[in-house]
Amino acid sequence: MAKVSPSILSADFSALGACCRTVLDAGADMLHFDVMDGIFVPNISFGVPVLKSIHKAFPQAFWDVHLMIERPAEYVAAFAKAGASLISFHLESEGDPAETLAAIRAAGCKTGIVLKPGTPASAAAPYLAGVDLVLVMSVEPGFGGQKFQPAACEKLRALAAMRKASGAHFLLEVDGGINAETGRMCTEAGADILVAGSAVFAAQNPAAAVRTLAEL
Ligand code: DX5
Ligand code: ZN
Repeated sequence: MAKVSPSILSADFSALGACCRTVLDAGADMLHFDVMDGIFVPNISFGVPVLKSIHKAFPQAFWDVHLMIERPAEYVAAFAKAGASLISFHLESEGDPAETLAAIRAAGCKTGIVLKPGTPASAAAPYLAGVDLVLVMSVEPGFGGQKFQPAACEKLRALAAMRKASGAHFLLEVDGGINAETGRMCTEAGADILVAGSAVFAAQNPAAAVRTLAEL
């Protein structure tokens, strides 16, 4: 059984509350909140005020906040205050990852590091002992609806092996192009959490899509 984190980037923003309600009622374990600044990635999504408002509507939900921004450390406190449960940031962004992790922890959130497709698993090694989540991107960050890159499975396997060898306890999450077929490849490679945007919110039946992914 996989944990499922539907990415609300693909939701209908005119009915965001209803979209969240549907997937939570279907058993989604958390909600994935993609923050893009137009600098780290060539797209702009949403930020602190949207999280504040949707968190207020669903205070019990686990808010899985994925920062695709150039200077994550500067925004940790604001996202934590707005209701983030976990904050993940890219190892490729600016700043000392150890300091950003400390800031996330100090703000009372769980911690996550993210690797772009071109970043090797070994880049995560220095942080694995103290991190709650490692997110492997299976597309270039910036847009929903892209095609899954199968090389992510190799990286998941490598990180799962590093976890076993080190005795660390982080969860492995994968994000980008996840559907029933690619999601199974990822859980077989060691992924614990599947992020899915278009496969859930563009589906005829989003609730059924969540349940299908959860069974993988
Ligand atoms: C991409 C985002 C993803 C995106 C996934 O940069 O990090 O979370 O919403 O969308 P799909 O599942 O459509 O690839
Ligand atoms: Zn994401």
